[in-house]
Amino acid sequence: MSVAPFLFVTDLDNTLVGDDDALEVLNRHLSQHRQAHGTKIVYSTGRSLTSYRQLKAEKSLLDPDALVTSVGTEIYHSNDDTPDPAWANALSQAWDRDLVVASTSHFSDLVPQPQPEQRPFKVSYFLTEEAAVEVLPQLKSVLKERGLDVKLIYSGGKDLDILPRHGDKGLAMQFLRRQLGIDAKQTVVCGDSGNDIALFAVGEERGIIVGNAQPELRRWHDANSSEALYLAKSSCAGGILEGLNHFGFL
Ligand code: GLC
Ligand code: MG
Repeated sequence: MSVAPFLFVTDLDNTLVGDDDALEVLNRHLSQHRQAHGTKIVYSTGRSLTSYRQLKAEKSLLDPDALVTSVGTEIYHSNDDTPDPAWANALSQAWDRDLVVASTSHFSDLVPQPQPEQRPFKVSYFLTEEAAVEVLPQLKSVLKERGLDVKLIYSGGKDLDILPRHGDKGLAMQFLRRQLGIDAKQTVVCGDSGNDIALFAVGEERGIIVGNAQPELRRWHDANSSEALYLAKSSCAGGILEGLNHFGFL
């Protein structure tokens, strides 16, 4: 086992969570590494804080050192209830949530997600894959016409998130990584779907794509494969374990 501390950043649904037995094994390794060497554990999820807490009540999740929710738009340190104000401040630049809603809500293919998933820096809809082909380019041009410099993230063939230009999982991870003073090469990120692409795309961090990854992430990987990325054979936590061994973190 390597003794160097590392920053472990993982998505939850269908990445860390999805195979309970493999999760138990991975948890044991991670918690030992954290205790012995000061490794940091960060969860980065599309869920809101409320929805994260529901998952935590159902699954055996280690307490993370930091929690990134709502697709990178909120960062919570240890057990804080209030998101990191510096990150919120960075995202609020040039973000006009009301105008985003007003510009998108008349698209009949966009079905608003439940209220708890609508967040200060995240507007979320359901959108079918069939409709997405036409609707996404139309949306992009409408938003651009209105001067809204935002990010559209489509995941799992069903979820559309509209975020501030500087808010996504990758940028939130880098913000935290710098706060913690950990090198990119000592950082590993794990994911399975579209909203995780930003984690893999930012820089020199090591990336683990779990074996059960969604088509949009597989396609991205086919076009962007690199030594820093590992496509696991196993699913979920089993794939993460495989990748941590591959990169020599464990
Ligand atoms: C989670 C969130 C949802 C988001 C999706 C994809 O399921 O609850 O709001 O659209 O992740 O990012
Ligand atoms: Mg996921």
